[in-house]
Amino acid sequence: MLLQCPKLTPLQSRFVASFGTLLLLGLVYWSLSNPHFAYAAELGLDGSGRPRDSEDHIRHGTEQNRLAEDGIEPLSVDEDDRVVERAAVASAISANNAPNQLNIQPSNTTLWVYSQDLLQQAAAPAFSGLPSDPSVKRDLLEQHSDLRRRQDGKTIYISINTCLQPNWNASSVQTGEPPQLTLYVGAASDNSDLGPNGQNQIVQPLMEGFANVSVNANSGTWYIAVSAPALTENYVGVWNYELAVSTDDYYHSADLGDPFLYLVDTDMTAALLVTNNLTQQNASTDVFQEWMHLSPPPFIMFATDADNMGMAGLRNSYCGWSSHQPIAGSQQDTAGRDTNVQMGMITRGLGNKPKEQFYITDLNPSSGYVGVLAQPGNSTKSGSGVVGGGGKIWKPVAWQTKADGNCAMMFNLSFCDEVAYAVPSNTEKYNITQLRDLYDSNTQASYQNFSYSLQQIPCETSADSQYSTVKTCDDCAAAYKEWLCAVSIPRCEDFTNPAPWLQMRNVAQPYYNNNTLLPPDFLNASYTPMPRAPTLEGSPAYNQTYWTALATRSSRNPGLIVDLIQPGPYKEVLPCEDLCYGLVQSCPASLGFGCPYKGRGLEAGYGQRSPNGTITCSYLGAVYDVNSAPDVLAPAFKAIAIAALVALVVGVA
Ligand SMILES: *[C@@H]1O[C@H](CO)[C@@H](O)[C@H](O)[C@H]1NC(C)=O
Ligand SMILES: *[C@@H]1O[C@H](CO)[C@@H](O)[C@H](O)[C@H]1NC(C)=O
Ligand SMILES: *[C@@H]1O[C@H](CO)[C@@H](O)[C@H](O)[C@H]1NC(C)=O
Ligand SMILES: *[C@@H]1O[C@H](CO)[C@@H](O)[C@H](O)[C@H]1NC(C)=O
Ligand SMILES: *[C@@H]1O[C@H](CO)[C@@H](O)[C@H](O)[C@H]1NC(C)=O
Ligand SMILES: *[C@@H]1O[C@H](CO)[C@@H](O)[C@H](O)[C@H]1NC(C)=O
Ligand SMILES: *[C@@H]1O[C@H](CO)[C@@H](O)[C@H](O)[C@H]1NC(C)=O
Ligand SMILES: *[C@@H]1O[C@H](CO)[C@@H](O)[C@H](O)[C@H]1NC(C)=O
Ligand SMILES: *[C@@H]1O[C@H](CO)[C@@H](O)[C@H](O)[C@H]1NC(C)=O
Ligand SMILES: *[C@@H]1O[C@H](CO)[C@@H](O)[C@H](O)[C@H]1NC(C)=O
Ligand SMILES: *[C@@H]1O[C@H](CO)[C@@H](O)[C@H](O)[C@H]1NC(C)=O
Ligand SMILES: *[C@@H]1O[C@H](CO)[C@@H](O)[C@H](O)[C@H]1NC(C)=O
Repeated sequence: MLLQCPKLTPLQSRFVASFGTLLLLGLVYWSLSNPHFAYAAELGLDGSGRPRDSEDHIRHGTEQNRLAEDGIEPLSVDEDDRVVERAAVASAISANNAPNQLNIQPSNTTLWVYSQDLLQQAAAPAFSGLPSDPSVKRDLLEQHSDLRRRQDGKTIYISINTCLQPNWNASSVQTGEPPQLTLYVGAASDNSDLGPNGQNQIVQPLMEGFANVSVNANSGTWYIAVSAPALTENYVGVWNYELAVSTDDYYHSADLGDPFLYLVDTDMTAALLVTNNLTQQNASTDVFQEWMHLSPPPFIMFATDADNMGMAGLRNSYCGWSSHQPIAGSQQDTAGRDTNVQMGMITRGLGNKPKEQFYITDLNPSSGYVGVLAQPGNSTKSGSGVVGGGGKIWKPVAWQTKADGNCAMMFNLSFCDEVAYAVPSNTEKYNITQLRDLYDSNTQASYQNFSYSLQQIPCETSADSQYSTVKTCDDCAAAYKEWLCAVSIPRCEDFTNPAPWLQMRNVAQPYYNNNTLLPPDFLNASYTPMPRAPTLEGSPAYNQTYWTALATRSSRNPGLIVDLIQPGPYKEVLPCEDLCYGLVQSCPASLGFGCPYKGRGLEAGYGQRSPNGTITCSYLGAVYDVNSAPDVLAPAFKAIAIAALVALVVGVA
């Protein structure tokens, strides 16, 4: 009987082909500028072009065929009538903290052996890592694992990433995803009876291409098995996975509870996202400064068209994302290479703490996307020999690009430096640089006039003559600036967006890009912006249409937006009413600020915050808190949403 040895087979050519076909988006791909990657697995090279430890280390164990001895039936007989045993021979795990990559056929199981030598190797040197731990949750986890480490013996951390998976091979649209691999770990040392029919084992099916298991171990040889299911209908091909074992920490990880990434806003072709605060320390501390000076920035991002089923089943796998690279930010991109993901450290946003920003361009209009935050290795080094070198993925975040083309993503202003959202625009008249200057200088000019007025108020004098004992002129100036930036630079949404909290604006102007007015029936429809206005005889309050009412016909800041920019009809995410109340409370009464009353203009001018994370009103530093990604973008749901949108437009027309 000849024992067939598992070995690193080259990636099958169809996977190289799928690598090409998945790059659907017509964007700049990292892989193109990083040609090593595509062939790395074939050549046994790692991303840097050095030979991988594979061929040397994945020498085949000399383990006897225990399964056959135990009377387990041979699975198949090949042409030469030689018996092929399932999981017959164990491949050796090459080293601690190193990827062991392998193709696996459907219905096959590969057995791996982790030797006592590796188990008893000294711990890899611990690195301080990032300037501080950005997540409190991880603090707790680390304390927990420190506790574990203090117990007798060691912990073996086993993790697996699916890199490639079988492809859909049918003319119908792919609806689900291919079945997942399963990870088996012996529950005791020297147990090699693992796999679908194994005994005394820990069974961990992969979820979206990721699984991890840890066991406490003093000594002995430990076995691990990976098994592939039978293929479901219409899928063809094999899986390719990366298995790693370490006594230091997981080589691969995935935080499935927290995206750690927030959507700021989108326009027709771009999306802006930021990480959560990386520290809560204030600006004078070293930790704060170290974060701001990290170069390259510590995190990267991967994203894909939500319809790209090639990533379905791999979304928790760093190796899966980096093998497909649908849209990717690479740390090398910060060195000025042409890319569609720009990354950088910022302090903009609530609390003004360090964050990393991702500006993704070249997206398709009215399309759904799914993106993940990722950490390559330990953020400065990755790959073999690095604790955590296999990378980390966070929970996916979903977003949708805009459709109408007259809202432009704008950030990086010098006066209204906290503004970061889409604004009414018209690319035929102003490019984004000019638009930014126009909004910013206009707002700064208004602020200058306010400053002159504020100088007339006794501020810096004794407490007696101050206008308030709790508020100072600095508070008033800050509240005014926040209100002014939010109000004079409106937050823009598609006119076709049916969300109930949006206010129509500028309906009397034709769309700039096709010069058409909205349908006359719609413009002539009755509209009552002030439902509680006094019903005096001859009052026009109850006799208005979208065409005649100021709230819908015009815009905030009409001299700038209606006359100069001329964006055509758009919808406004109204500034939050608390910005107005905050201004009134913070400033001296002599300045004469007031807010509109309910039913008398408040609803057409200000919005209310929502507790569910949706941005239902505009405030500076707002980010979406998408708690339940990415199912929102399932194709069926999208079809319904688009139908509803169309229905609304037809309905009001
Ligand atoms: C199972 O995998 C091993 C190692 O890759 C291979 O030698 C064997 O031919 C495979 N068996 C089947 C039935 O595919
Ligand atoms: C990452 O690992 C390398 C080598 O293992 C080490 O030199 C480096 O300091 C580590 N970086 C961080 C941020 O932990
Ligand atoms: C994929 O589908 C095509 C067309 O149906 C078929 O000709 C081909 O054999 C299939 N490939 C595999 C590997 O089944
Ligand atoms: C797997 O890893 C996640 C985080 O990456 C961790 O929360 C979880 O506890 C790990 N599972 C096991 C069994 O250690
Ligand atoms: C910085 O933080 C410390 C405490 O963490 C606080 O006492 C101090 O007021 C803060 N400084 C500023 C400028 O916010
Ligand atoms: C960042 O921290 C501030 C407080 O310093 C908090 O208000 C805010 O919600 C945090 N997260 C983000 C994404 O801004
Ligand atoms: C923001 O502005 C600064 C200087 O004003 C510039 O250096 C930087 O590149 C800009 N960032 C982006 C993303 O436009
Ligand atoms: C915007 O237009 C101005 C003047 O035509 C030009 O100098 C500038 O380079 C343009 N900027 C961009 C980003 O296209
Ligand atoms: C500032 O005030 C002057 C004088 O009242 C006025 O002419 C000018 O239009 C104001 N500027 C702005 C931007 O409001
Ligand atoms: C509104 O309707 C009247 C007739 O009913 C029509 O003359 C007018 O043009 C319409 N206005 C608009 C803006 O379509
Ligand atoms: C509504 O306004 C129009 C002109 O703007 C006028 O002809 C009409 O009589 C008004 N209707 C009522 C009920 O006031
Ligand atoms: C969030 O709240 C707003 C109102 O505050 C509501 O209209 C919207 O449907 C809610 N969204 C979700 C996803 O619950």
